[in-house]
Amino acid sequence: MTLQNTPIQSLTVLPGTNRIGDPENFNEISIHPGDTISIVGPTGSGKTAFINDIEVFAQGDTVTRRKILVNGSEPSEDLIRDPAKKPIAMITQSTKCLADLTVEKFLSMHLRARKLENNGILDAAIDLTNQFTGEKISGCMRMSSLSGGQTRSLFVADAVIISDAPIILLDEVENAGIFKNRVIETLREKKKAIIFVTHDPYVALLTEKRIVMKGGAVEKILTPGGEEQTALAQIAKMDADMMVLRERIRSGELLSAVTGAGI
Ligand SMILES: Nc1ncnc2c1ncn2[C@@H]1O[C@H](COP(=O)(O)OP(=O)(O)OP(=O)(O)O)[C@@H](O)[C@H]1O
Ligand SMILES: [Mg+2]
Repeated sequence: MTLQNTPIQSLTVLPGTNRIGDPENFNEISIHPGDTISIVGPTGSGKTAFINDIEVFAQGDTVTRRKILVNGSEPSEDLIRDPAKKPIAMITQSTKCLADLTVEKFLSMHLRARKLENNGILDAAIDLTNQFTGEKISGCMRMSSLSGGQTRSLFVADAVIISDAPIILLDEVENAGIFKNRVIETLREKKKAIIFVTHDPYVALLTEKRIVMKGGAVEKILTPGGEEQTALAQIAKMDADMMVLRERIRSGELLSAVTGAGI
């Protein structure tokens, strides 16, 4: 079920300028299906601007002056303008469904907009959502009653199953209680390219490539390979411990001293 006329084999980011107008210090960044990339850096360093450039297929016409190529050339007009062909889904903390619909209604509206038959797609989107989030959702729930994590999980599932977008951009959605490793695993299996803007060490280490931003520019591109495996295992354990703590606090427990092994 590929909706794009030309499948995306690569997306290339060409350098622009930093906040004071100096050129960025990289040749190009290529993104391919199945790539997992995180964007890290201090507040205000240009992380969101970087993924915005990708989302709008910047052609030197944004503050950063970067250019985005699709399969090595300038993207065609209909790829940019036609929402049904748009190969990119961007999900941010403020992504919301404005109309108060049920989940089922929301998904079927999207199916219709994409001119797709249901054929189990709707259930598949709800099933996938429920693999990402601890608290399950169902088709009859209202969009406005979903939690932040449930909403974001639904939008990721919707982007994967209904938009069939090959590139998914996520801006700081990690604190929403989503199973991050499950999201990354699924998107990698489904050959999606995923780019996370993140402050979360676990997400940063789960991705294969890490882009470090500073002063509006790409400062460094790290590809740690196996180098961080030990740290990743340790952080996974800490993350699981934090999840347990979060659940205990959520369920109304008073916590006495918390020691590493005693959680
Ligand atoms: N290369 C650039 N040239 C000029 N302005 C830039 C550049 N990169 C980012 N900016 C501007 O700097 C501001 C902060 O950037 P941005 O919102 O991308 O930061 P951020 O890293 O996402 O921060 P946060 O972690 O707080 O979300 C924005 O107004 C953005 O438009
Ligand atoms: Mg930001």
